[in-house]
Amino acid sequence: MSASDIRPPADRAPMLSVERVGDFTEDELHELCEATDAAVIGGGGFGWVNPPGRQALERYFRGLLLVPERELFVARMDGHLVGSAQLVRPPRNNEAQAFAAQLMHAFIAPYARGHGLARLLTLRVEDGARALGYHVLNLDVRETQTAAIALYESLGYIRWGVHPAYARIAGRTVAGVHYYKLLQPGGRIG
Ligand SMILES: CC(C)(COP(=O)(O)OP(=O)(O)OC[C@H]1O[C@@H](n2cnc3c(N)ncnc32)[C@H](O)[C@@H]1OP(=O)(O)O)[C@@H](O)C(=O)NCCC(=O)NCCS
Repeated sequence: MSASDIRPPADRAPMLSVERVGDFTEDELHELCEATDAAVIGGGGFGWVNPPGRQALERYFRGLLLVPERELFVARMDGHLVGSAQLVRPPRNNEAQAFAAQLMHAFIAPYARGHGLARLLTLRVEDGARALGYHVLNLDVRETQTAAIALYESLGYIRWGVHPAYARIAGRTVAGVHYYKLLQPGGRIG
């Protein structure tokens, strides 16, 4: 299945959904790797600057499902897997920050953007974090990822700092922007 098969027809809105996954079929893993490749090539935000190759990506996602602190959420368009995000819980020894989780590695493949899927994905990860009892969700993003910055600010994430030496992309140092959102009513953290 290629990206052009996944693009929705122009005459209707696509069906969007998000779910937490604990396992993949071979087809789902294939679609997730395709989506990741396309996002990395498109300037990504997924940590990789160059696509790492299919075998490495498959190992990465299979391994991710085994990491106890990480929950993988996948975004679907018309049933096809086109993006993902990770909810990362603090390690057990970090009692002082046990109330805070992190949203990492969120992306939607370029061929599925502009339909509201990232907004839905972010809201579902927030619901997941709330359901696990977290009070704060932290995230950070390269300052060059302007679409992501607009998304998170529109969802009420509060910018608390800028890291001037956050990432190196094509030989250039790129700053990163750090955000948090209080998840519980009234903004309490305990
Ligand atoms: C950021 C990203 C996830 C948005 O995905 P998407 O599914 O197209 O986003 P949505 O359609 O849900 O848009 C939701 C909001 O995001 C913002 N947004 C999305 N695309 C935008 C763009 N190209 N320019 C400006 N704002 C944009 C808008 O606020 C938008 O709300 P609106 O449609 O009411 O204006 C996607 O562009 C992406 O994967 N980028 C690369 C990876 C990345 O930056 N990840 C985040 C940090 S790791």
